[in-house]
Parts: sequence; structure tokens; C-alpha cells
Amino acid sequence: VHRLGILTSGGDCAGLNAAIRAVAHRAVYSYGWTVHGIKDGTLGLMNRPIECQELSPDLFKGDLLRMGGTMLGTTNKGDPFAFPMPDGSLKDRSGDFVEGFHMLGLDALIVIGGDGSLKILDKLCKQGGVPMVGIPKTIDNDVHQTEFAIGFSTAVNVVVDALDRLQPTAASHHRVMILEVMGRDAGHIALSGGIAGGADVILIPEIPYSMDGIVKRIEAVSREGRSHVLVVIAEGCKTEDGAPLTVAWSGNQARYGGIGHYLSGRIAERVKAEVRVTVLGHVQRGGQPSMQDRLLASTFGVHAVDLVAKGKFNRMVAWQDRGVIDVPISKVVGSARSVDPTGPVVHTARGLGIYVGEVPE
Ligand code: F6P
Repeated sequence: VHRLGILTSGGDCAGLNAAIRAVAHRAVYSYGWTVHGIKDGTLGLMNRPIECQELSPDLFKGDLLRMGGTMLGTTNKGDPFAFPMPDGSLKDRSGDFVEGFHMLGLDALIVIGGDGSLKILDKLCKQGGVPMVGIPKTIDNDVHQTEFAIGFSTAVNVVVDALDRLQPTAASHHRVMILEVMGRDAGHIALSGGIAGGADVILIPEIPYSMDGIVKRIEAVSREGRSHVLVVIAEGCKTEDGAPLTVAWSGNQARYGGIGHYLSGRIAERVKAEVRVTVLGHVQRGGQPSMQDRLLASTFGVHAVDLVAKGKFNRMVAWQDRGVIDVPISKVVGSARSVDPTGPVVHTARGLGIYVGEVPE
């Protein structure tokens, strides 16, 4: 291989630039290849002229390791099989993507993406004969076969920081503070962030909850002599009855948003304390990557290039049992990895007295 392409696809997160840097570093310095960064995910290869830049050593000598976002740009509206046209119709532009790859004379492609992007790119690359290796990223941490995806650790740190800031103000005013966090249909961010940030109640989409359970925990906290409560709720949670929340005012939050405010109304009906809500939103995606995300991104980047060098394609690098491995992408895509309601993290939360849902006896 002499010419390697790389793109980031789907929502951004912290650590993407660290992965790009690692790929470029390994490919250029260890193997003597050239690396070509494709702009805005799949769009760069579909657009004409193709939007692409060579990642020369000058570019990645600097501060890429510590920079948030993605220097290549990204999109989550670029499915080449169902590309949105100005008239609202969807067009199959997969041929343009594959043509773009060949026009650049690339020998292989590294895709940094979440479950959705990897599924599309895997199908596309198989159909078009494009040799591809995937690197998992998503703050939601819901990609199968890997214990961690790039971006998760930083997002959880943001949640912990928010709880560190909310706790003193909650304590001063004797309030119930609700923090709504991201995660799509998975509760990994809420669960890990809530445990590390000292929450009393953590609600996740994977475990049904009851208002009685929440109120019971709030009353227990008060009996223990504390007059403030921290509640973390994942954006993908439904109402107490399991009904999806429909909020007219949720603005540009296309699918989620609002469950924290719903919950605040329900809690305020049942307890005397004042209730306040913070919706953390995209703050969780930005900023400098944490130590863990830098390490993971660097490890994944180097391993992905090594796979290309060995000619091992249609694989995703993954983190399992304290090390990097690689798995077939076909084993990864198709569904999201949820929190295991009987797993060790939920067990830890319950062991700390945190209400994580399900009915009180
Ligand atoms: O999948 C990552 C994520 O940040 C989710 O946690 C969140 O629901 C969604 O993306 C937000 O998407 P957008 O950036 O399109 O608003």
C-alpha cells in the first residue's frame, strides 16, 4: 500500500484528531506511505472536485493530539446509499463514493465512525471492492465488541465535572438537581458519569423506573441527613409508563431532549424540595480529549495501519481485556451495545445505594 485514505464519519467527539494523528504518524514514518484526509466524511469522496488533503508530517507534528473536534470535518447526513437531495428525495450515490476512491488512486481506507457509519461504510466498501479498516468512536460507547470507543471517556469526564459543579449549588439551596446527559438509546454515559460524580438516582433507557422508586431514594437521602439530591437521566429514557416523550419545544434536538424537564415536573409533584434541570448537550462532545481517549485513539490508529499493512480488511480495531484486538466489522454492526441491567456497573451503582430504576419492593 502506498496511498492510504482516512475519513471521520457521524457525530464528532474528543479524540478524533488524536486518532488521525496516530494513523498518519504510523503510515508515514513506519511504512513510508502517503495519507490522504477526506473532508466531511463520505461527502468528500462524493463531491466533485473531491475534497481531500494530504496529511503531511508538518500537519501532525503540532497539537492534533490535544485538539477536540475533527480536522477533517464530518457529517451524519452523508449516507451514500440514501443521499438526501435538495428536492427531499433520497438518491443512491454509492457509485460516486467508490469512483472518488479510485480517482484518488487510494489503496485502502480507514474509517473512524460509530455503529451506523461503520455499517454503511462496510457495505459500501465490500460492494465497491474498497479495502477498509474501521476505528470505533462515539461518546455513547454503544459499539459492540469493544469495551471503549473513542470519545466516551471525555464525555463522561464532562458529566463528572458538571456534577462537581452542581453539587455545591444543590447543597446551598437544598435542591434536587437533575442532569440530562447524552447517549442516544444507551445509558453508558449516564451510568458511568453518575457513579463517578456521586449521583443518588441514575435513570437509563435499559432499565424501567418508577416515580415511587425515585421518591423513595430522595426520602432516604433526607433521612440520612442530606438536604440535596443529584439525579442523572439519560436522554433516551422514556416516561415512567415507558411511553416515548414527545416535546414540541425541543428545537434542533431531532430525536431527543426534554426528558429531564419531564422528570422535574414529576418529581416536583411528589417532593417539597425545589427542582432544577441542566441539559448538558453537545458540551459532552467538545473540548480536549481525556488521557484515556488519547491513549485509545493512539492505540487504535497504530493498530489500524498495521492491519492495512498486513492486508487484513473489513475489520474494526477494538479494546478488550486491557488490550487492542481486531474483529470482523460484520460482527459489530446492526445493533447498539446497551448497558447490561445485570452487569457489574449496575451492580456497583446499586451497591452504593443509587436508585437505578426498577420497582422498589
Ligand atoms: O451519537 C452521539 C450523539 O452525541 C448522541 O449522544 C446524541 O443523541 C446525538 O449524537 C446528537 O446528534 P446531533 O449532533 O446530530 O444533534
